[in-house]
Amino acid sequence: MGIQSEKTRRMTLPSSRIKAVTFPPPPTTVEPDSKEGAKLARMHLNEAPFGPSPRVLTAAAEALTNAHRYPDHNAVELIGRIAALTGVERSCISVGNGSGEILIAVAQLAIEVGDEAVFPAPTFPTCGKGVQIAGGKLIEAPLRDDGVNDVASMLAALTDRTKLFYLCTPNNPTGGVLSAGEIAVAADTVPDDCLLVVDEAYHEFANAEGGPDVLSILQRRTGPWVVTRSFSKAYCLAGLRTGYALCSSPDIRDALWALRSNFNLSRPALAAASAAIADTEHLAHVLRQTLAERDRIAQTLQKMGCRLYSGSANFLTFQANGDAVNLATMLGEQGVLVQVLPWPNSKGSIRVTIGSREENDRFLTGIAAARKDIV
Ligand SMILES: Cc1ncc(COP(=O)(O)O)c(C=O)c1O
Repeated sequence: MGIQSEKTRRMTLPSSRIKAVTFPPPPTTVEPDSKEGAKLARMHLNEAPFGPSPRVLTAAAEALTNAHRYPDHNAVELIGRIAALTGVERSCISVGNGSGEILIAVAQLAIEVGDEAVFPAPTFPTCGKGVQIAGGKLIEAPLRDDGVNDVASMLAALTDRTKLFYLCTPNNPTGGVLSAGEIAVAADTVPDDCLLVVDEAYHEFANAEGGPDVLSILQRRTGPWVVTRSFSKAYCLAGLRTGYALCSSPDIRDALWALRSNFNLSRPALAAASAAIADTEHLAHVLRQTLAERDRIAQTLQKMGCRLYSGSANFLTFQANGDAVNLATMLGEQGVLVQVLPWPNSKGSIRVTIGSREENDRFLTGIAAARKDIV
């Protein structure tokens, strides 16, 4: 009898928390080396158009010869290089399968069911998704008109229940960069029982232009903090999925470490990321080319009368006169993929990744052809 009633019990999976996750997955795109994919200018995912450096390719290929063995879970070599690069102690560094994985873990370590987390809106969605999965409540503060996180209104949203405070600089999707003063105010004001998270996926680009030293500002903070960074952007390794976290203390790092699945970084990823840090020439080349091409695109868009949001990353965000969806559709017909944003108003805006010179030319040609929708 007991067994029968067990059998008629209804399946309630997935849990209501998972059902409630509202964040859409990334867009699907055909593979770059397929016949169709080769014709596309992929300017919608903020990837690097440059391949990894030859030194990185060699290191990753060598790592494959031991593909039958699990990789180093402790990521000793990579963490040593990150420590040397950033000046942060090894005991305060964790690694992830992309910084996105760390952004989910960061929410898990800070949020209990019913806690609040303050976010700018719009921003990169993954940490917010982590908060939802952990049963937390998102409190969103609209960006300033210039596309920068509005620290003052975010701080005004703090309550006793706030356990996570997320800043993104440069902010994706708008490119806005926080000033040193704004980061310092957040570091000083966010309470000590709240985790301050700063997503610096585009750090290398902002740094190349003299952006604020987020790390040294946070080091003054008494409360906990985590900075997340990525190898997907300036280091050209999006397909290998590697990111890292710099933490205020070994306690926070140990929590992130505990949340890692075993061997979460593959052998080629570990080897490639270590080699990428060592290859400073390749990084300098990527930064130089990206910033020069970004300036070229920005000047052309400005001449056409677009409203451009200033940003220090590998993408540009702009508003044309017409509807952003129409413009993106026209570009799409030319094989140029860009991201439409439902921001700052009903016309929306476009985020375009800085591609190779050839891709950028294709984008500019497409924009010129659609000129009547712009000016
Ligand atoms: C602001 C921001 N944070 C984090 C990520 C995640 O990067 P990844 O998981 O590739 O390291 C991205 C990717 O576009 C991003 O734009």
